Amino acid sequence: MKALLFGAFGCALAFASPAWADPIIIKFSHVVTADTPKGQGAEKFKQLAEERTKGAVKVEIYPNSTLYKDKEEVEMLQLGAVQMLAPSTSKFGPLGVKEFEAFDLPYIFPNEQVLRRVQDGPIGQGLFKKLEGKGIKGLAYWDNGFKIMTSNRPMHLPEDMKGLKMRIQSSKVLEAQFKQIGALPQVLAFSELYQALQTGVVDGQENPPSNVLTQKINEVQKHATLTYHGYVGYAVIVNKPFWDGLPADIRTTLEGCIKDATDFEHSVANSDNEKALATIRATGKTEVYTPTEAENAAWRKALAPVQKEMASRVGRDLVTALNKEAE
Ligand code: LMR
Repeated sequence: MKALLFGAFGCALAFASPAWADPIIIKFSHVVTADTPKGQGAEKFKQLAEERTKGAVKVEIYPNSTLYKDKEEVEMLQLGAVQMLAPSTSKFGPLGVKEFEAFDLPYIFPNEQVLRRVQDGPIGQGLFKKLEGKGIKGLAYWDNGFKIMTSNRPMHLPEDMKGLKMRIQSSKVLEAQFKQIGALPQVLAFSELYQALQTGVVDGQENPPSNVLTQKINEVQKHATLTYHGYVGYAVIVNKPFWDGLPADIRTTLEGCIKDATDFEHSVANSDNEKALATIRATGKTEVYTPTEAENAAWRKALAPVQKEMASRVGRDLVTALNKEAE
């Protein structure tokens, strides 16, 4: 309630301020570097929003956990201390919207076309509806890419993961995923990952190549395996009282900026990850392994039980609907 009151007070000021007043400030906090798909999407939104509102809106971007880290960013959004975020959809379990963790189920998205259909259709929009009771409005889904495994040992088959301490995002599905193959999952903030790998607090992690390269994870991981077993994507979210309290013309303009920034962000995600993988290979510090068809089949078989095990947490109907989309 406190968050909503604070937020509502904030938005009342937005209405009260006369035309010549200071610009409406949108603080946009995120946990990746500027040269990632999400980082570039944020910059594109800033450029469009400031241009198209003729300065009535000013977007302050705080990249790479410089303002808030994984653990606190969503709470700060609810309190109105920051207006916009784009957290991975793997990070909504602690907020109580555990249905988002269905997106973490291994191999649930066979390709990006299915992912896009899910995000833009009733499933993705329905998940956004679940955020509204928490004072959060979902505006768009942004991409990163399919995840690879990294650690300091060769990982050709799922049994090679046995005993590895693997960093995960705050998702019970990701926890189940690694337990299923004998690894030891450990939730850590993205900002703490490099140091945790460097010091051996954890042995490995999973992420798309762009996150591996931009956090220099490849410099402390001798092996990477192109499993592409899951997906990292983002929910672009705002403080709902702030958003609803914007002058209607400003909100409409910003909705257009979000749409165009989303198209842009989607257009750079694949090439960013391809370039990052090529750079990781060229740097030569990490041996990059591509599983054989038989090995990929073994990964899928080993991880298949996670779907049944976690269906009661994320929603059986949701899992059925996701599998239907993938047919
Ligand atoms: C992670 O925490 O591994 C990623 O979700 C970070 C990000 O936002 O891409």
